[in-house]
Amino acid sequence: MNKNNLALILACLALGISMFAFFRSSAPVSASVTAADSTEMESEELEVAVLMQRFQWNVNKLYFAGMAGNKPLAGFYLHELEESMEELAEHPIEENGQRLDDLVRAWGLAPLEKLEESLEKTDPAGFKLAYSDFIQNCNGCHLSSGHPYLRIVLPTTPVMDNQDFNP
Ligand code: HEC
Repeated sequence: MNKNNLALILACLALGISMFAFFRSSAPVSASVTAADSTEMESEELEVAVLMQRFQWNVNKLYFAGMAGNKPLAGFYLHELEESMEELAEHPIEENGQRLDDLVRAWGLAPLEKLEESLEKTDPAGFKLAYSDFIQNCNGCHLSSGHPYLRIVLPTTPVMDNQDFNP
């Protein structure tokens, strides 16, 4: 091995060590950026639009179960919807200057509780009225969070056609 080769090997080693040191020392820096930016991080982890697909799915099936007078099935979808709403309520996500976790408590979880009470007490006609009121809260939240064009209405057909909603 001549002197030049040795110098080259030493240079490569030094470069390797300094790169290692650089990445090691840069790791905590990027970790602290993540922590400071947690609101955005959490919103990336929790896909609000995907959660909303679950809302839409459950609220559709809830309607057909309620209209068929199938209280246990309607109760099941109420509970599913509640779980999805709670998931949003647990994440401090901000959109268009609004905290979605606060909004979902006001426009989601509170009205859902009222709908649950009326499901217990009423027949399908009463349920239809309570349900119509309830979905206005979906739209109220869409309006408040800057999405006035997202409008939920009474469904005419079940989201899937291979399920029996009868009691
Ligand atoms: C926190 C308030 C809030 C409540 C309550 C709420 N939404 Fe949403 N919804 C949003 C936001 C914010 C978006 C936009 C998501 C995005 O920007 O990715 C959205 C988007 C949607 C979408 C569009 C996504 C798609 O797949 O087409 C649908 C559908 C939807 N919501 C359905 C509902 C239904 C049904 C309810 C009521 C059971 C409801 N939402 C209640 C805030 C809310």
